Amino acid sequence: MKKFITSALPYANGPIHIGHLVEYIQADICVRFLKLIGEEVLFICADDAHGAPIEINAAKQGITPEQLISKYLKEHQDDFAAFHIAFDNYYTTNSQENKEFADLIFETLRKKGFIYEKEVELTYCPTDKRFLPDRYVKGTCPKCGAQDQYGDVCEKCNSAYKTIDLINPYCAICKTTPVRKNSKHYFFKVSAFSDKLRLFITNHKQIQEEVKNHIISWIEQGLEDWDISRDGPYFGFLIPGETDKYYYVWLDAPIGYFASLANYAKKNNFDPMDYLKGEGSFGHFIGKDIMYFHLLFWPAMLMGSEFNLPSFYQVHGFLTVNGEKMSKSRGTFLTAKEFLQISDPEFLRFYFASNLGSNVSDIDLNWQDYYDKINSELVSKLANFCYRAQSFCEEHFEGKLERHIDENVEKEIQREVENTEKAYSERNLRQAVTHILEIASIGNRYFQENEPWKLIKTDKKKAHEIISYSISIARRLAIILWPVTPKYSESLAKQLNTQILWSSLKKPFEKLSTNKPEIVFRKLEEIPAPKIAADPFSTLQIKVGKVLSVEDHPNADKLYVLKLDTGEERQLVAGLKPYIPKSELLGLHVCVLTNLKPAILRGKESQGMILAADDGKNVVPLSAPHSQPGDKVFAEDLIPEPEPREITFDDFKKIPLIIKNNHATYNGKILQTQMEKIGATISDGAKIR
Ligand code: MSP
Ligand code: ZN
Repeated sequence: MKKFITSALPYANGPIHIGHLVEYIQADICVRFLKLIGEEVLFICADDAHGAPIEINAAKQGITPEQLISKYLKEHQDDFAAFHIAFDNYYTTNSQENKEFADLIFETLRKKGFIYEKEVELTYCPTDKRFLPDRYVKGTCPKCGAQDQYGDVCEKCNSAYKTIDLINPYCAICKTTPVRKNSKHYFFKVSAFSDKLRLFITNHKQIQEEVKNHIISWIEQGLEDWDISRDGPYFGFLIPGETDKYYYVWLDAPIGYFASLANYAKKNNFDPMDYLKGEGSFGHFIGKDIMYFHLLFWPAMLMGSEFNLPSFYQVHGFLTVNGEKMSKSRGTFLTAKEFLQISDPEFLRFYFASNLGSNVSDIDLNWQDYYDKINSELVSKLANFCYRAQSFCEEHFEGKLERHIDENVEKEIQREVENTEKAYSERNLRQAVTHILEIASIGNRYFQENEPWKLIKTDKKKAHEIISYSISIARRLAIILWPVTPKYSESLAKQLNTQILWSSLKKPFEKLSTNKPEIVFRKLEEIPAPKIAADPFSTLQIKVGKVLSVEDHPNADKLYVLKLDTGEERQLVAGLKPYIPKSELLGLHVCVLTNLKPAILRGKESQGMILAADDGKNVVPLSAPHSQPGDKVFAEDLIPEPEPREITFDDFKKIPLIIKNNHATYNGKILQTQMEKIGATISDGAKIR
């Protein structure tokens, strides 16, 4: 049967990170398993190279979109190779093959009346001379009034709307107020496929139940037709007959699966249609965020253009690190390259496999758990068993084996082999790993109970049998773990003198000798907590403080001694006396740097510092009138470390905080609390200290 498997195409707009790797590792393991049991299957992927962000980012960097995407294409391929993710073909959606397939599908749908044109009203930036996609226009949410929301959904109240509905919109590129402008767009009649889609989803044998439920509820809410065109400037394929209108990136992205296959077919002299129509089949690994595209739009496109429909979907959840969303400021947003500096890529493969069941739950990378799983399961239980058996054999029998099988133990092993095979085929990697570790436990038990280190002195023949059979178990481990840790398995198989073939699981004594043992995996020495530098801003602990009392400093003309409530009461010394009378300060909600090393100023202790803006003439404290004492101050997506260490005044001075438009900012990011932006009425450029 002609079969290929895909994983989602990563955007050619940024590096591969460990979140992406969940999917590519999961898919790679499943494909390796199928290849191991002898199925002919191709693993196909590509970079998703089109869209407005790619065009805009390239322009920002002063390079062409083609230069940008070829840089990432190379990087992505290197990253995948480093994690042993072995695609049969890795291509790009910006290719001739993809243009041809996209045009073919578009024209077929159009001929059949599934595509129509309609005028739409859009948000247009007169300065940048472009229509603004969702993520490039911001403004106030029309539902809840939250400020600075994107043009598609409000992050505060979650409601969805159109860019033109935003109140006080501004262009995210140049901050100009956009205008409304009409444009002719192409729409795909997804609504015409509602019934067929419902049947397809309901009757499908290889879609997870929870995924089905989501999709069916979307269909029941009513499908809207899909806008599949975008106006220039855009990086994508021109729509036939148009001069400045392009296919929306999500139209040609899934078609990119076919194009990458076609590219492989060209190199290997076969007809890609064999895989796409008739007997051919294909299945997709995707994240839960892109279900809508893959289980509604994509099958509708395929139905309308008479291709086969996907034979399976494996949808996975999102990666969290230590229970939270990956975050740059916490140092938990790790790129694939950064991860390689911390740990062995096969450890991550093993860890992800141990955590990936067949449901759509998010999976957590918890460093303590990572350390425990690798050390106690992969290294101690499995790798050490193999190494021990082999060293023993080398030391006492020069690596020679006896044909010996313990029938009872063998039954248990064959049962676990079957269980593993079933789990792998169901793409339940967590189950597969559990059964593989069970084989390792059986091996350990057999070795421990038979005590070959004692037998060697009393019954050398018996000891030889025990050790030979232990080696046969180790050989099976090397084979069955290969989809998860291919490099380790290959090295182990070489040492144990066995081939990595599924059929060898039943023929453990094809070769009666082993090679020199080598330690491949060593225990992790320490928890590989991310060593990646967090943003310096995150080292600041800034809290809102209410001024409870103000007094003159007994020994200094310009200083006040204040008591503040910052969630707890603290005393501060501040040089505000020449600028603000006591009465104005009293009751004010100001911002306090609370993790500054306490200092004695002219005999009075100051536990932190009141932050104020200084333009050389005036000094104005930062204020947060609507926030509560103790509320934390952050800078957009940068949040303080949970428990930042104490810092010195010199550390603080290195972190540039300045006033812009009466707001406190750090590197262009506005300081804020949950309630409001932090302000000070003073001239632009005033320094905060
Ligand atoms: N380009 C689209 C896919 C087009 S497929 C025709 C896209 N790209 S992506 O780079 O944002 O994501 C690629 C895949 O990685 C998606 O399946 C996505 O769900 C997955 N992941 C991205 N971040 C992830 C995590 N943090 N955790 C788990 N998977 C994640 O979407
Ligand atoms: Zn603009």
